[in-house]
Amino acid sequence: MRALVLGAGGQLGSELMRLLPGATGLLRHDLSVSDRAGIEAACVHYRPEVMFNCAAYNAVDKAEIEPKLAYAVNSLGAENPALACSRHGVRLIHFSTNFVFDGRLDRPYTEKDEAQPLSTYGRSKLEGERSALAALPAALVIRTAAVFGDRGSEIKGGSFPQRIVERARRGERIRVVSDQRVNPTYARDLARAAIKLAAGDLSGVVHVVAAGCCGWDDFARAALAACGVEAEVEPVTTAELAAPAARPLNGCLGSVRTDALRPWQEGVADWAAGWEGGQG
Ligand SMILES: NC(=O)c1ccc[n+]([C@@H]2O[C@H](COP(=O)([O-])OP(=O)(O)OC[C@H]3O[C@@H](n4cnc5c(N)ncnc54)[C@H](OP(=O)(O)O)[C@@H]3O)[C@@H](O)[C@H]2O)c1
Repeated sequence: MRALVLGAGGQLGSELMRLLPGATGLLRHDLSVSDRAGIEAACVHYRPEVMFNCAAYNAVDKAEIEPKLAYAVNSLGAENPALACSRHGVRLIHFSTNFVFDGRLDRPYTEKDEAQPLSTYGRSKLEGERSALAALPAALVIRTAAVFGDRGSEIKGGSFPQRIVERARRGERIRVVSDQRVNPTYARDLARAAIKLAAGDLSGVVHVVAAGCCGWDDFARAALAACGVEAEVEPVTTAELAAPAARPLNGCLGSVRTDALRPWQEGVADWAAGWEGGQG
């Protein structure tokens, strides 16, 4: 598979690069997904069979104060690769988020549920899904949730479990939101699934997440336990946190189109075993 990975330095992009040794990976400073002519030129130059667009503006709270940048990356940056892939007959795998839902249902959201984002980040990602599929209906948009990897999301200062473990080791108080629920999805598992789906012909929107769902506080406890760190995790409510961006309380995804990945706890165990800081 001759693959081109956009956003190759992120949590997911770096896993795809690890699993696809022959792939070309482009970082933000190599090529911005907002640069339409640049994306077109990259398609001509690298002649990929498959393009994985992992680039994203993921700073959920900051997006509320810099919406133009969020839309430039998450919406225009979704449409540009789709237009180039459409012109050059390239299979496109794009990624989106559980934050397109408002979280009011009491069961996991499937592809059949209506998207109703609560935040600028969610709205920009939903617009990206729609513009990518309008430009290239054969594209596959993979919605996922609570991604964590070995590399960590630089924009957030490391992956969530990594930040929790490092804070606990420094002896800091660990307060984590408990009334927002997600499927913690290991980036390596997601990357493997995306490669498999890229080889097929599924199109439209599909949900790919780890099996099972939990509060962020349980995710934090599992990360600490997997790294052998003893620390108390204090649950905090969304109302107490009062973050700038609203988030879905039920951020759990399910699928009517594909199987879930392995249980999230197994992903956490492998993450801890593979992370160089995992065992202290
Ligand atoms: N992380 C999550 O919890 C989560 C949850 C649900 C869905 N998702 C989705 O899953 C996908 C992968 O997320 P991730 O966790 O791997 O994110 P990530 O670690 O933040 O990686 C995103 C990458 O995109 C790059 N980027 C930012 N702006 C760019 C631009 N204009 N042009 C090219 N690259 C740009 C970033 O580069 P810099 O580091 O240089 O800024 C970063 O390497 C995204 O579509 C995201 O929306 C993530």
